[in-house]
Amino acid sequence: MTRERKTLHIKTFGCQMNVYDSERMAEVLAPLGYELVKEPREADLLILNTCHIREKAAEKVYSELGRLRQLKDGRARDGEDTLIAVAGCVAQAEGTEIVSRSCIVDLVIGPQSYQRLPQLLEQHAKARKPIVETEFPAEGKFEQLPQGRTRAKAPTAFLTIQEGCDKFCTFCVVPYTRGVEYSRPVIQVEAEARRLAEAGVKEITLLGQNVNAYHGEGPDGDAWPLAKLLGLLAQIEGLERLRYTTSHPRDMDDGLIAAHRDIEALMPYLHLPFQSGSDRILKAMNRKHTRRDYIELVAKIRAARPDIALSSDVIVGYPGESDADFEDTLALVDEVGFAQAYSFKYSCRPGTPAAAAEDQVAEELKSERLQRLQALIERQKSSFNAGFLNVTMPILLEGKGRKTGQLVGRSPYLQPVHAMGQEDLIGTIARVEISGVGTNSLDGDILRLAQSGPERDRLL
Ligand code: SAH
Ligand code: SF4
Ligand code: F3S
Repeated sequence: MTRERKTLHIKTFGCQMNVYDSERMAEVLAPLGYELVKEPREADLLILNTCHIREKAAEKVYSELGRLRQLKDGRARDGEDTLIAVAGCVAQAEGTEIVSRSCIVDLVIGPQSYQRLPQLLEQHAKARKPIVETEFPAEGKFEQLPQGRTRAKAPTAFLTIQEGCDKFCTFCVVPYTRGVEYSRPVIQVEAEARRLAEAGVKEITLLGQNVNAYHGEGPDGDAWPLAKLLGLLAQIEGLERLRYTTSHPRDMDDGLIAAHRDIEALMPYLHLPFQSGSDRILKAMNRKHTRRDYIELVAKIRAARPDIALSSDVIVGYPGESDADFEDTLALVDEVGFAQAYSFKYSCRPGTPAAAAEDQVAEELKSERLQRLQALIERQKSSFNAGFLNVTMPILLEGKGRKTGQLVGRSPYLQPVHAMGQEDLIGTIARVEISGVGTNSLDGDILRLAQSGPERDRLL
């Protein structure tokens, strides 16, 4: 392997798990001399880390490849070679089809294989033909990854602790693209969290497709639930804030609910997708929870942590969804009251059970329903944010804002907050008095630095 300087650009699509994977891919490639560059046209190796969740997401990859063809040709005219790799969930789902649809692709690597990037690049250099690697290898990916970040790039970081899904909701590709549910051992997660904290990271978001189904092996040989892992991580020096996402209502156990009451570093925010408010549709989706289950669960969570901000994912236009089913979804949103939520038109995914359903909902009707749902969610977001006017909150300042002299950070409830301040405050938690509220963000004035340690969150 050569170690001369080479350039790498990674374009990330999809969910936070892909953001984490992209960062790890860069780490895997660093020993080969690859350095990240901002501009795709400067890259010797270009990785598209893709998402297959909805048709639009998957199609984006092909339009991107269309654009990259010109780039690759242009660089070739200047005597420079550009390797193009497709990673992520489209790679896993479509495999060799990608190289037949686009002749510029050199490598196709599934999400469980990117730790092998150096070997695959070598293989490609020898074979001089596209390499497709979409096996789920028997040996664990995580054990083979480098030790992880040693220098803080930002005060916040993602940490994947669980991957894959065994739930098989009828609309969803994830069980096929990410494979079976797997939880990383506690010791491995703890070591990675410690390295991040030592590098200056103040907030970690634990990631998993079903993060609250976490059951990694603990040092005592028992399977540890997420609540116990959170308790351990909360003790790491320097780590001020913990979050986790995405959770399934079925796996929200009493221990985890209690953790929201007991662990101060655990932020009062929970992304808990319900997908539909209609029991008939929930059953067809194979969600294995009812509307009532969800409402009761929310009541329990709010009893443990009354100020918790709730978020969700909602699908409109699942096959067979009637007007009445959709009204049930609106009514559920109304009843629960969300701080924010993501909503999507059902998208037919090849190979999933729902794709074969005959009673697909017309596109126009889906759009109409989506618009109504989004209008309701926007109103809820605005009213949630409006409640923070003149409130003082601890804000983790994460970086520079768009305007000169402005910083941007996050509240405990994950709201983006803008405030004027010196750059050296980035990475600290400041007391900020909210002076302006909008649908998507808040404005505020920095009063002073909050005390360090979990203490500061009681200053609310
Ligand atoms: N594991 C998470 C979801 C991962 S996918 C969970 O169970 O909640 C993120 C979101 O994409 C899902 O919550 C769902 O709302 C949406 N989604 C998944 N498949 C979809 C499809 N075929 N069409 C539209 N939205 C979809
Ligand atoms: Fe997809 Fe359902 Fe698994 Fe979430 S729980 S990843 S929606 S199959
Ligand atoms: Fe997309 Fe794969 Fe994430 S399909 S949402 S990138 S798990």
